[in-house]
Amino acid sequence: MGRATAAAIIPGLALLWASALGDAAPSPPRLRLSFQELQARHGLRTFRLERACCYDALLVDEERGRLFVGAENHVASLSLDNISKRTRKLAWTAPVEWREECNWAGKDIGTECMNFVKLLHIYNHTHLLACGTGAFHPTCVFVEVGHRLEEPTLRLDLRSQEDGKGKSPYDPRHRAASVLVGEELYSGVAADLMGRDFTIFRSLGRRPSLRTEPHDSRWLNEPKFVKVFWIPESENPEDDKIYFFFQELAVEAAAALGRLTVSRVGQICRNDVGGQRSLVNKWTTFLKARLVCSVPGVEGDTHFDQLQDVFLMPSRDRRSPLLYAAFSTSSGLFQGSAVCAYSMNDVRRAFLGPFAHKEGPMHQWVSYQGRVPYPRPGMCPSKTFGTFSSTKDFPDDVIQFARNHPLMYNPVLPVGGRPLFLQVGAGYTFTQIVADRVAAADGHYDVLFVGTDAGTVLKVISVPKGSRPSSQGLLLEELHVFEDSAAVTSMQISSKRHQLYVASRSAVAQISLHRCAAHGRACAECCLARDPYCAWDGAACTRFQPSAKRRFRRQDVRNGDPSTLCSGDAARATPQEQKVLGVEGGSAFLECQPRSLQARVNWTFQRAGEQARTQVPAEGRAERTVQGLLLRGLRRADSGVYLCVAVEQGFTQPLRRLALHVLSAAQAERLVRVEEVAPPAPPGPKLWYRDFLQLVEPGGGGGGPSSLRMCRPPPVPGPQPPAPRRKGRNRRTHASESRAERGPRSAAHW
Ligand SMILES: *[C@@H]1O[C@H](CO)[C@@H](O)[C@H](O)[C@H]1NC(C)=O
Ligand SMILES: *[C@@H]1O[C@H](CO)[C@@H](O)[C@H](O)[C@H]1NC(C)=O
Ligand SMILES: *[C@@H]1O[C@H](CO)[C@@H](O)[C@H](O)[C@H]1NC(C)=O
Repeated sequence: MGRATAAAIIPGLALLWASALGDAAPSPPRLRLSFQELQARHGLRTFRLERACCYDALLVDEERGRLFVGAENHVASLSLDNISKRTRKLAWTAPVEWREECNWAGKDIGTECMNFVKLLHIYNHTHLLACGTGAFHPTCVFVEVGHRLEEPTLRLDLRSQEDGKGKSPYDPRHRAASVLVGEELYSGVAADLMGRDFTIFRSLGRRPSLRTEPHDSRWLNEPKFVKVFWIPESENPEDDKIYFFFQELAVEAAAALGRLTVSRVGQICRNDVGGQRSLVNKWTTFLKARLVCSVPGVEGDTHFDQLQDVFLMPSRDRRSPLLYAAFSTSSGLFQGSAVCAYSMNDVRRAFLGPFAHKEGPMHQWVSYQGRVPYPRPGMCPSKTFGTFSSTKDFPDDVIQFARNHPLMYNPVLPVGGRPLFLQVGAGYTFTQIVADRVAAADGHYDVLFVGTDAGTVLKVISVPKGSRPSSQGLLLEELHVFEDSAAVTSMQISSKRHQLYVASRSAVAQISLHRCAAHGRACAECCLARDPYCAWDGAACTRFQPSAKRRFRRQDVRNGDPSTLCSGDAARATPQEQKVLGVEGGSAFLECQPRSLQARVNWTFQRAGEQARTQVPAEGRAERTVQGLLLRGLRRADSGVYLCVAVEQGFTQPLRRLALHVLSAAQAERLVRVEEVAPPAPPGPKLWYRDFLQLVEPGGGGGGPSSLRMCRPPPVPGPQPPAPRRKGRNRRTHASESRAERGPRSAAHW
């Protein structure tokens, strides 16, 4: 066929892994905050049911101030302000007969034949719609939650219990993706026990149910549904569309490439009622396009092919939200995840572009070059674009074309042509994503919260890069919101309350979107953090209020450059000198650890009695560890001042000044004798003790023993760094504690 050969073959499906990313190292977060630290200092709250797992459904209800949670055999209602407070829960189990049937079908009675609540939607002013797996017998029910101003209620309306087929999955391992529009539920789900009949389904409401063509791999090919959104297309509600996000096996891939996963965006019209003579009670406006998230490389693109989650960031124009999508790879060669952003205009452009076409089994998929019937398949019957008032009036050639051409030829490419943020070889993959738009001093920023399969949440800000419309993601925080490391299965955000809700198999966690004090106590640290929620107020790093007077608030999200913003605070940042003792031939550990994991540490040395400052070599007797500098085989000439500075984004910040005094063996011996005669607080003048002070501090007595820091060899001498400091401990407290712990008495041991 002439016109088919002229068309191009579907491009970009030959996947080349890692050629562009082969050497990429995972980027460390600026701050890593442990579960214990988040709980003790940053208001992390958790919720857990007794003897129930799998918190799969989260629903934020701002009006009632409740967070509804769907879990194994339960629905719970929690306070949005504090999920540990005023919780209510109700049991919703599967009947014994269903559980027995489930067990006869070969499923596990204890882990599969339960009612796993998968779906929660606000139905009307008084009720929620809840659907669960019902022990492989999907079922839905209305839950009475009361009016907004009433005391929170939670009651199952069991009379309303009805079939949940096509709404909830059968299998607890499967996800439910759905949206409730008016009284109608649009869902993407497997609608049979075997998990083979995948469908995009409309149910409830008054109109007849509608679905995709069954068992037609051109329509759906073993899909995994991720999210469903209702997005208006014009001012006219007749043009409203429902968008489905999923991954599936690529029908368009050459057989030689095997089973290849691709990510998709699909569309249908809200006013679709199916065809008249064919496609009866099936969608007539279903189209799908490939969603690409890849890194361009010389030898080919590296594709993140597995769509994990999509977040719709609303914009003032309801027709044009921004879509943030999290992807992972199915590659056995490397572990990677990425976040790509998509504009609705690009999605619509793909649906207005050429259709993909396959002439017959022996042909390849190409761009369709023939005549497309009118009205163009994918357009909704409406007065905006045509004269048809119902899909039942569509001409037969339109219906036939729609049935045979659900796939578009052009893919949807991400904004900027590449991922906004990616992480390769980090030991985890992305599973969930939500975002918040924040007003900062220099404009608006989108902050992404990315859940991982290791039970952590990454806080990433999207910062404009150069003059192009593209952005890059900066990893601000890695939050360990769970005690264990179970994968994040669901995430919801309340922008109004500045709270994030995170669910896993084992718990639900609530955490604020910001923890400004965690960035540090210096202006430079606050500024380098580039957290759009935070600013330096002259005394501390605190929450930035865009309405407050800006003059006193210092923040630079775009560049994170503290050199101009924080110049007046330089004096405050200069660390006090601390003294450290060492003994000839022994070793000394000079502790210095920046809060930021993205900072590099630079050590310089000024020998006692000399002016010149030299860099401490990174080899030989000096060994750098994450916690500081380990000096071995000490010599008298190592005495002097060691300055530790953190270098981050080109900005240098002094952290510690440590004056090391290396004693000769004989001096150390005398010191031990001092210890014997002079216990911690010397009551009277002691000759040896005074001598010693003069030795350490030429020119005078100075403070008592409490101003001295004695230094033992580090706990684990050798190549390993010393045991990590407990995270987040106040440095000052730590210093005084260690002084107390180590005390002068311990000097006797070495
Ligand atoms: C949340 O509620 C629990 C239980 O009432 C309480 O112990 C906790 O202090 C509250 N947390 C916050 C941050 O209000
Ligand atoms: C909400 O829907 C439920 C279930 O159909 C119904 O019983 C209830 O009366 C409805 N409430 C309102 C306020 O319409
Ligand atoms: C460390 O500091 C010294 C002196 O300020 C400077 O010459 C050197 O380039 C710095 N090294 C690094 C790696 O930043």
